[in-house]
Formats: sequence, C-alpha cells, structure tokens
Amino acid sequence: MKNGVSAFAPASVSNLACGFDVLGFALESAGDVVHARFDDSVETVVISDITGDDGRLPRAVRKNTAGMAVMALLEKIKPVPAGISLVIEKKMPFASGMGSSAASAAAAVKAVNHLLGDPLDETALLECVIAAEATISGGAHADNAAPALLGGLVLAREVDPPDILSLPVPAGLSYVLIHPRVAVETKQARQALPASIALKTGVSHWANTAALVHALHTADFALLARAMRDFIAEPIRRRYIPHYEAMKRAALEAGALTFNISGSGPAVFSFCSSRSTADRVARILTEFCDRERIDHGMFVGAIRSRGAVITGATR
Ligand code: HSE
Repeated sequence: MKNGVSAFAPASVSNLACGFDVLGFALESAGDVVHARFDDSVETVVISDITGDDGRLPRAVRKNTAGMAVMALLEKIKPVPAGISLVIEKKMPFASGMGSSAASAAAAVKAVNHLLGDPLDETALLECVIAAEATISGGAHADNAAPALLGGLVLAREVDPPDILSLPVPAGLSYVLIHPRVAVETKQARQALPASIALKTGVSHWANTAALVHALHTADFALLARAMRDFIAEPIRRRYIPHYEAMKRAALEAGALTFNISGSGPAVFSFCSSRSTADRVARILTEFCDRERIDHGMFVGAIRSRGAVITGATR
C-alpha cells in the first residue's frame, strides 16, 4: 500500500471564443502539484499546507476546490479507509483565467484516487472536479475541468453526466497566452454576463462552434480564425483587461490567427499556425506590455495531450 502520492495537473484555456463553457485545452507547462498522504490524526481530509499562493487561498477543505473535489471523491467510495492530508503546490497564477482551481482539483483527485488504489475511473474523477468548480464559480462547466484532468483540446457536450469529446489538434497549432497581473474572480465574471442571449447571437455561436470543430478536423487555419468569435463574453469581460483592444490588434497584425479571452480572464490568448509565428507574436506582445507598463506573465507552447499525471509515490 502506498503512503503518499503526488500528482500534477495542467493549466488550461477555456471557452475558446465561440465555445463558451464547452471548449478548452490544456497548457504545455504551467499547472499545479498536489501531494496526498494517509494521516491517522485526521478524520477525513485536511489541507495541511499550500505553497505558492502568498497565503491567499482558503485552507478550509470545504472552501478550497482541491479539498471539495476530494470530499466529492470520498463520498463516492464510502467508507473512507483512512484520513488524508493534502499539500497543494500552486505553480501557476490564480484568478487568472488559466483554470487554476481546476488544475488543483484535478491534481488532488488524481493523487488521492491513486493513493486509495485507483477505485474510480476518469469519468467519476471528472464529476468530482466539475462539482468543486461549480461550487466556487457559480455554474457547472467542464471546459477547464476536462482538459486539466484529461488533457488535449476537448468539447464538453454535457456535464451531468460528463460527455467529453477529445478533438484533433492540427500539426503546428501553437498558443501564446499573456496573463496581465490583475485578478478577476470567475464568479464575478460569470455574474456580469447576461442570463439569456438573443437568438441571433445563439445562431452565430453555434455556427462558429461547429465551424471551429470542423477546422480542427480538417486543419483549416483560415476557418479556425474566422470561427473564433465571441459575441457573449468578450463584449463584457474585455473591460476587466487592460488595453484589450490594442493588444488584440497588435497580436493579429503580428500574424496571430486569433485573439480571445482565456476563460473568464484576465489572461488572453492567441492561436498561431506555427511555433515560429507564436514566438513572433509573443515578442511583439511583450514589447507592447512593456511599453504600456502592463505587469504580465507569458506562456507559449503547443497543446498538451496529457492531463493530470502521477509524478511520485512513496510506500
Ligand atoms: N467557462 C467559464 C467562464 C470558465 O467563462 O465563466 C471559467 O471558469
């Protein structure tokens, strides 16, 4: 029997413009690590430490997405064999639009499930991450949860029960993601959106979402660029992002195919047809941010095909 397990889960970009709440992809490098171990002094679960958050994330299990996801997991496998203690290593920005809470939750359930001998399959683990995400963000959606746990570029057709489709990623497709260092809480960013949309807006969105899926299947970058339009969240959420319109112009002029908000922001991202174009777009956006004195982080890469992974186990 293992005594301790560590897992990593990637950051993710969600929405992908027209795919509000249903499309997302995993980032190549950024993400969180969670260590889980049996702890006799604990009845169910404790978060014994969080590093990398400057003390800003809740330590209470029922207020923390990783804690909530593990509680949901333990609900599914009663009776719980022993108490469990979690250490969360935040290795990516949070309140950033990069799926930070989903990364912690996915790494946590991956680690705890392995610690317990892998009693649950990935669909059951995903349900736990979606439940935790719903509690903190105010809505059940899997567009960060699914890529964080499963990797790749995914379409969440349904969340209850989860029906997740893994979409093909054309060769060369690369992303540039900029994280302006201002915090945007997902819950507030969701509350700012309208409860209903005009039929005309819906028609545009489902036409573009279908076109984007087709573009991914046929590696049609021109269609991908035409399809990634957002008439629902972008008009409202761009106001939380410094110099959004000017950054978008600079990215598109530099050769990016697209420029959209990552999740609920403030991170923004572009798709590019090659790594070299992505590097050029990143350079131009870095110059732009330096000129405008926008404190920011930058991530460039290819979509990560793997989701949460076990990184270590001790006996
Ligand atoms: N689809 C979600 C939203 C992602 O835009 O609110 C953020 O969790």
